[in-house]
This record gives sequence, structure tokens and C-alpha cells, in this order.
Amino acid sequence: MLILRDLEVQSGKNMLDIQTLRGVAEEMNIPESDVAGFVGFYTMFNTKPRAKFLIRVCKSGPCHVMGSTTIFDAIQKHLGIGIGEGTKDGMFFLEKCECLGVCSVAPAMMINYDIHGNLTPKRIVSILNSYKKKKPSLMEDCGKEVEGKTCVINEPRQTKRLLENIGVVDPLRIDSYIGKGGYESLKKSLAMDPSKIIDTVKDSGLRGRGGAGFPAGMKWSFVGKGPVQKYVICNADEGEPGTFKDRILMEENPHLLIEGMAICGFAIDASLGYIYVRGEYRRSIERLQVAIDQARKKGILGKNILGSKFSFDVIIKEGGGAYVCGEETSLINSMEGKRGYPRFKPPFPGGAGFNNLPSNVNNVETLMSVPLIIEKGAGWYKSVGQPNCSGTKLYCLSGKLNRTGMVELPMGATLKEIINVYGKGLPKGRKFKFAQVGGSAGGILGKDLMDLPLDIDQPMKQGVTLGSGVVLVCDEGTCSVDFLLQILSFFEHESCGQCVPCRVGTAHLHHLARKFASRTAVPGDIDLMVEKATVMKKASLCALGQSPIMPITTMLKYFRKEFLQHCDPKHKCPQCDRSLSRYYAGGGH
Ligand code: FES
Repeated sequence: MLILRDLEVQSGKNMLDIQTLRGVAEEMNIPESDVAGFVGFYTMFNTKPRAKFLIRVCKSGPCHVMGSTTIFDAIQKHLGIGIGEGTKDGMFFLEKCECLGVCSVAPAMMINYDIHGNLTPKRIVSILNSYKKKKPSLMEDCGKEVEGKTCVINEPRQTKRLLENIGVVDPLRIDSYIGKGGYESLKKSLAMDPSKIIDTVKDSGLRGRGGAGFPAGMKWSFVGKGPVQKYVICNADEGEPGTFKDRILMEENPHLLIEGMAICGFAIDASLGYIYVRGEYRRSIERLQVAIDQARKKGILGKNILGSKFSFDVIIKEGGGAYVCGEETSLINSMEGKRGYPRFKPPFPGGAGFNNLPSNVNNVETLMSVPLIIEKGAGWYKSVGQPNCSGTKLYCLSGKLNRTGMVELPMGATLKEIINVYGKGLPKGRKFKFAQVGGSAGGILGKDLMDLPLDIDQPMKQGVTLGSGVVLVCDEGTCSVDFLLQILSFFEHESCGQCVPCRVGTAHLHHLARKFASRTAVPGDIDLMVEKATVMKKASLCALGQSPIMPITTMLKYFRKEFLQHCDPKHKCPQCDRSLSRYYAGGGH
């Protein structure tokens, strides 16, 4: 997919023309219709001419709360274009997009491959002017404000395990990683019986950190046996709005991921690993590739690694911008060059995954925990955390806090601790209204749940999921209707459209949210929203269609009154007005 995106940038118009697509179909010996279907599925591609520089402004939760509408305004004012329009000189084209994975520096935007965060209307002018003399680049030119290290909260009270070497190890030099004991766990593993490695991971209690929380060791033990090709797949398609932890881990310590994958490969008898990275994560892709090349040169990847009988290699696959590909079977379809539609389960990937062969899919944070467990033991790993959710968790803090960024804490930290100690509280004069935990697919926590341990199981009892670790804090200036509108527009946009309950349901929910935002809803629409989301939960094929019920019911638990107020046509709500006139005017999704 990266090649297609590069072709777009190289075209000078950020588009894939029909000749280019025909060339790709011919080269790959596949029907042109397959290529067209594929390109149409992923948001990063477009077959219509755009401009030399494509500006994509994030409108997902954290950016929305931090004022992305003002950024759209500033761009529109400076360039004289609306969303879905280009400047007459062919220089700029403006689009809205979902989370870019830099939420601690929200609001943010991406220009071709360059990420810009901490945006203000004033900065927009100087950033756009700097592009007037620039040539489109295929490399990310990431502003200082989104450097990985600056997105990690510097607070000594953390329990740094995965973050221990962030900012210490040079991600571009394998020797720096080796100098800190890197690849020793792989050496140790190669001398172990593979089943003992799986037992150690099981004993540690490590559960998947991508959102589902399935026990990692058990998942490894489910991978089919026998003399067939097996795969380790790293799910690095970090698309949940508010999550940016995997990006930082990959950018700042890529060898830890390679080591975790190689250990997993040895344990499950897989000789090949794939890292499926979001296409937006250009810097992660670049740094991972450097790390893979260096590991190959040192004999750590390739044939007979580290002089053993075991061979293992890693290949990067890039996503094309589809949230649903974070679901493991969608991801596998995408890896196979298809649209990212989820598959029916069973069979699970452990039995029939990539190319219908046994595959183990784990998240970045999960796989990176493995070398630490092998080095220090299962007992050390479970010495912190909760009885059924051991180890540490990376929490991603964003929104109305004095300090945002990523922190590593024992699993089960409370909202109170996260906000007051690590986020340093809300800005002066602001009062807490609610926190969104788990991202768009998560739920809303109010003041009454400040002491709830945020582990994998306990939030579920409150109808919320920790998911990948998003903690987005909103102050009393946030309108609950406007916030839910933003979430439901996200689900409609990201629904892959394969199953009817999700395709139709997400569109209906978005429509209902717009009715509240435009003050044309009736009180009965509140229960209608819950009813529809309940049916979707029962009938949708994958987690995407099953998720909207969570933000809807938890938001209504606290703010039903605000939804009722929005049924009054005379009710004033500048936030809803702004969102309706900014995001939903003009083109784009
Ligand atoms: Fe905008 Fe994540 S970068 S929400």
C-alpha cells in the first residue's frame, strides 16, 4: 500500500490515475476491478485529483475537544477553501480525517506525510506558508512537537518497564540496543524448549494489550501444529482515537518489537513475521525498516538466527487508512491485498489466518512485553498489577489536562491518580465533566468512578472498556451531544459496510445524533438510539458494529438531561452549531 501512496504523492496531485492503477493490475496479474475495489476501500487513496499538498486535519475525540474546528476555520480563512476543496493553484487540498495517533499534541494535522501538532490558528499560517517553497517528500518531516520522546510523560512515579529504554536507546542503532542487553532474551529463548516459553508467558498472566485482553500465552498455544508455514503477525494498526502508545514504542525502541516477535516465532514454530503498521505512521515504518535491516546484517533475523537452527524474518505491511483493519481478521484480509473486511469466526487465525495458514496475531505492546518476561521471569511480571490483569499498562492521556502524553503504570491505576498525578489536573478554573476511556469504542466515566481501577475487567462491569488505554479528559465546557455526534460520525465513516446491521445502523445512529445537535430530535429518539445500538451489538459481525452501544449508554447515564435539552429547538448550543457547520459542510467523508 505504501507503493500506491508513494505513487499518489509522486503524481504531484495526490491521486492515483486510471493508467497507474492499470499498471498495478498488470504488474500484479490481477483484475483491474480488484485494484479499483481495493483503492476505493482505503481512505488514504483517491482517484480524483487533489493537490500537491494534501492537508488532513484530524477531527477525532481528542483533537475535537482541543479545538480542531478552529483549525479548519483558520485553514479555510487562509487558503479560501472548504473541506473537500483545493486551491486554484493546485498547491493545497483540505480533507478531514480521523485520529493520526498524535493525540497528546492535539489538535493535529498531516500534510502529505508530515505531522504537525499543538496547532493554533496563528501557527497555521506559518506552517502553510512554509510549504509554498517545499517539494512533496516521500519521507515524514515530523515537527519537534510530535517527537516520540516528548509524548512520554516525564514523571518518576511511573513503573517504567516498556518505557525504561525510551530515550536511552538510540532507535537507529542496533548496537545501542544490544549494549542495553537487547536480544539476550532471544538468545535465552533459543536455548529453551518452545513449550516452556509458552508456559512462561501463560504464567506471567500477560493479556493482549490491543483491547480484547485475551491471555497471550493461551493464544500462542492455540496456533495450529504440524509441518506447515505459520506466521507471527504484529497488529500495529493503531487507529483507536486517543491512542498513540504503539507509535512511540515502534519509533523509539523498534528492536524490542523484533525481539518479541522472534521469541514468539520460535515458541509457535513460525519462520516469518509481519508487522502491519498504519500507513499514517511513516516514521514508525521507516525506523522499523532500519531496525529489520540491521538485525538481518547481524544474523539476528534471517537463516539460522544467532547461530541456531531456527530461521526467522520480519516483513512490514502498511495499512491504507481503515480503522476496521485493527480487527485481526480484517487485518489479515488487508495483508492479503483485499479489502479489510472482517471474517466470520471460527475459524480463528490460530487455525486459519494469513493465507489460511496458522497465524498468531498480537498487538505491539503485548509482543514487546515478551522479552522482558523471558528475561526477568513470570513472577517479576505479575509482581505488579491486578490479580487477573498483571503487569503494567501504557495509558494515553489527552484532552483538558495540564500535562498530556503516555504513562506506564501498574495495571489498574485509577482515573483520580491518572488525572491528578500524571496529568497534573485540569487547567486552572476548569472543572472535570467526564473522561472517555478506551477511545470511541470505549465509554464515558463520570466523577463517581474516579476510584475505579482501570484494568481489563473492572471497567467492563460499569459498561466501559479500557481498550487500548485511552484516557481523554473533558471539562465542563464540553457538550455531551456534540461529543457523541463526533463519535457516531466516526463509526459511520469507519464501518466497512460488509454486514447490514453495522452499515445501516451506524448511518442511523449518526443521523439521530445530528438530529440532537441540530435541535430537531424528539425525546423518543434517545431510546431509539439505544434500541438501534442494542440490535447492532447483537447482530454485527465484528467489534466495530458492536461498539456504539457503549459510548451511547454510558453518555446517557450521566447526561440524558442534556440530550432532552437539545430536543428544544430554542436551546442554544454553539458547540453543536460549530461542528455541524464545519465538519459536515463540504466534501470528504
Ligand atoms: Fe487527533 Fe488522535 S491525533 S485524535
